[in-house]
Amino acid sequence: MLRKVISRRIIAEREEELPLSTMGELIKIAEENKGIISLGPGEPDFNTPKHIINFACKKLREGYTHYSSPAGRHGLREAIAKKLRKNNKIDVSPDQVIVTAGSTEAILLALMCTTDPGEGVLLPDPGFLAYRPTVETLSGMPLCVPHYEDAGFQFEVEEARKAILPEKTNVLIINSPSNPTGVVYKKKTLEKIADFACEYDLLIISDEAYERLVYGGEKHVSIGSLNGMENRVLTLHTFSKTYAMPGFRVGYAAGPECLINAMKKLHLYTTVCAPTISQEAALAALKGPQGCVSKMVKEYDRRRKLITERLNDIPGISCIEPRGAFYAFPNISSFGMKSFDFTMWLLKNARVATTPGTEFGKLGEGYVRCSFATSYEKINTAMDRVEKATKVLNKRKKKTR
Ligand SMILES: Cc1ncc(COP(=O)(O)O)c(C=O)c1O
Repeated sequence: MLRKVISRRIIAEREEELPLSTMGELIKIAEENKGIISLGPGEPDFNTPKHIINFACKKLREGYTHYSSPAGRHGLREAIAKKLRKNNKIDVSPDQVIVTAGSTEAILLALMCTTDPGEGVLLPDPGFLAYRPTVETLSGMPLCVPHYEDAGFQFEVEEARKAILPEKTNVLIINSPSNPTGVVYKKKTLEKIADFACEYDLLIISDEAYERLVYGGEKHVSIGSLNGMENRVLTLHTFSKTYAMPGFRVGYAAGPECLINAMKKLHLYTTVCAPTISQEAALAALKGPQGCVSKMVKEYDRRRKLITERLNDIPGISCIEPRGAFYAFPNISSFGMKSFDFTMWLLKNARVATTPGTEFGKLGEGYVRCSFATSYEKINTAMDRVEKATKVLNKRKKKTR
């Protein structure tokens, strides 16, 4: 019998309604065209430090190829709790930690455990591109907190007050250092956010993926370390950025035990556990020498200075100084083009790939994200090309005046 092909609709509305990301398309174009310099990557260009790789290889040979408990391996959770106490001033026990497949999975588990259909989640705009679709997939209601360049892209409590639906909102997501703006929230800003969360009785999900990537004397402060916040904050960290190991897929969440327990319960039905071998690699990262991190941060800093200076020297472009993560978020609105069109124009005319600001929310219109997780030399050449190509746009501007 000839079996007929399936004709019913198999894709759920929930998925169909998700906006298409242009990132995949842009990365593909950049990869397929050898001459293009990509300032697109959201991952370190460094290789994972050798001692981490060697340890992981050894453990693989020793047979660490089985599931771990959904919470994560006890030794790793102990090391994480110790690190949180020492570096982040967050006092948690290993039972208040869950190891996840990257912090992306921690975001998903946390939102699944806290957000019922129709409930509001406050999130930054512009902000990391996974927040909004994750809330939408869960039939929650994304409530965007605008972050304006005029305010240095800092969180403004007044904006959150305008965005909140007090009766329907349980969760506030913050992200510092920020992807895509590179901004680090000041301690006094965090204090205000903490007061706001108490006023509206909100849980804070604090995504600190770039906690170690701060520059120019900037200090990263975990909001979970502030007075009285220990039970109100779920802190998310990852090994992807600090130790250049995004492909290992390992991150963690720490916070109130009831929420961590709920996440552990759900973990069994999502991925069961973070890859066991990656958990071993993460342990090596935490316990091993930290010089590799300082070395990478020093190099990111050198590139950060270069890209900020070069962008600000280009007529028509202005860029506030990123103090964290590895992104510059220049304002290109003077060219009178939509972010997406400008990105495509740059790709064609300068052979430089950037990410349209609108990938990160409506307020990303007028901006592009330039990653400096690429070599100093490539950044310099990319800036030469952008400078040369945009001369045409500046000339056009003069003519139309
Ligand atoms: C702000 C932020 N949070 C979380 C993640 C997810 O990282 P991972 O899932 O690799 O831990 C990223 C990755 O780009 C990010 O930029």
